[in-house]
Amino acid sequence: MSNENKQQFHVKAGGVLSGSIRVPGDKSISHRSIMFGALAEGVTNVSGFLNGEDNLATLNVFRSMGVDITDPVDGKLKITGVGMHGLKEPASSLDVGNSGTSIRLLSGLLSGAISKQAFNVVLTGDSSLSQRPMKRVTDPLKDMGALVETNDKGTPPLKIHGGKSLTGIEYKMPMASAQVKSCLLLAGLYAQGKTCVTEPAPTRDHTERMLKGFGYKVESNNGHICLEGGGKLTATDIDIPADISSATFYMVGATIAEGSDITLEHVGINPTRIGVINILRLMGASIELQNERDVGGEPVADIRVKSAKLKGIKIPEDQVPLAIDEFPAIFVAASCAEGETILTGAEELRVKESDRIQVMADGLQLLGIKANATPDGIKIQGGQLHGGQVDSHGDHRTAMSFAMAALVADSDIIIDDCANVATSFPSFLTLANQSGLTIS
Ligand code: S3P
Repeated sequence: MSNENKQQFHVKAGGVLSGSIRVPGDKSISHRSIMFGALAEGVTNVSGFLNGEDNLATLNVFRSMGVDITDPVDGKLKITGVGMHGLKEPASSLDVGNSGTSIRLLSGLLSGAISKQAFNVVLTGDSSLSQRPMKRVTDPLKDMGALVETNDKGTPPLKIHGGKSLTGIEYKMPMASAQVKSCLLLAGLYAQGKTCVTEPAPTRDHTERMLKGFGYKVESNNGHICLEGGGKLTATDIDIPADISSATFYMVGATIAEGSDITLEHVGINPTRIGVINILRLMGASIELQNERDVGGEPVADIRVKSAKLKGIKIPEDQVPLAIDEFPAIFVAASCAEGETILTGAEELRVKESDRIQVMADGLQLLGIKANATPDGIKIQGGQLHGGQVDSHGDHRTAMSFAMAALVADSDIIIDDCANVATSFPSFLTLANQSGLTIS
């Protein structure tokens, strides 16, 4: 294990969250801004870009393939698009680190973008990404005519072969996944005919929204999303809102820490992302949306959260895809609620950056909470959180969730393996310390 992986958070027990903060830009939208800007004709100016390791991995992939992208400064960068077929052969394999969104979206995008070129591309990742399932994208891509190889276990590295022309397919997704949907739509841009994806439940629709913003026609009808291949993207400016997934830690922290009152500024409240607000409100949270507005095709609001007494609930399954990245933090809220919280239908949590059901159940139990993992969810009995030492398993979202637990714990919490917080929220420690936590 490298020293980096041993990075530890020491979080002092207690605290109250207050003030007004802006968390960094949305990770999903930041990835897509680079991808679409790179393939567009013209110059795309991006603001609000998340300068986290995952997004920088995507940025570096396109630089390695000849796209001119300026260094992000205060969230601003400029992409000079090379057009749909302008990517060049990279000198070596492309390392996307911890980023599942990069590898899954790029598998489709690159299958298309090099479908008329005679070179291959290899995508690699870190030890966590190298264990995550890729057949969910490579199988349907194969149906479209692409050739993307995985290793024997269906995991990265991915080898994408150039020169394989694509044909549109009608694909019924077996799981609710925005990454699979986006992968196929991006491949579909290059396919002959129509590519259609049916999703079993609504998932984040940033790809569809941004494609439209770049002038590409996309039809969405009740979870059936189609586009015709062969078109082009026209550069446009993108203003990225703050990430609701990063805001979540502060929403949960302020809810559980008595006396808290915090405002999270300029947060994206796309209806496909607000499961966390719906779930916390069902549990009794005080969350107010202020100054609701539209920013470049995405809804945005300031979110004011005051502390509140929570009660355990059975989490409605239709909220699961809408809150998929927020469950580690929601489990901390459930640990502070009166009664039992039950989550079902969330087996996807087991194949995220870590097995988030097991890692959170283990950590919460160590902190004195009755948390029982089930195959597709968890049962949590609210109680008193104690101090202790927990392992985030290199998962940014479990690390930040455990940090919030310290606000109500009766002694300090030490969290192991926290370096990956930098993948999505490099300023987490600074903002946390500014708003009422004490983390070193
Ligand atoms: C993402 C989709 C989700 C989410 C991930 C980002 C995206 O993954 O968990 O953090 O940007 O499309 P799945 O598609 O695997 O649900």
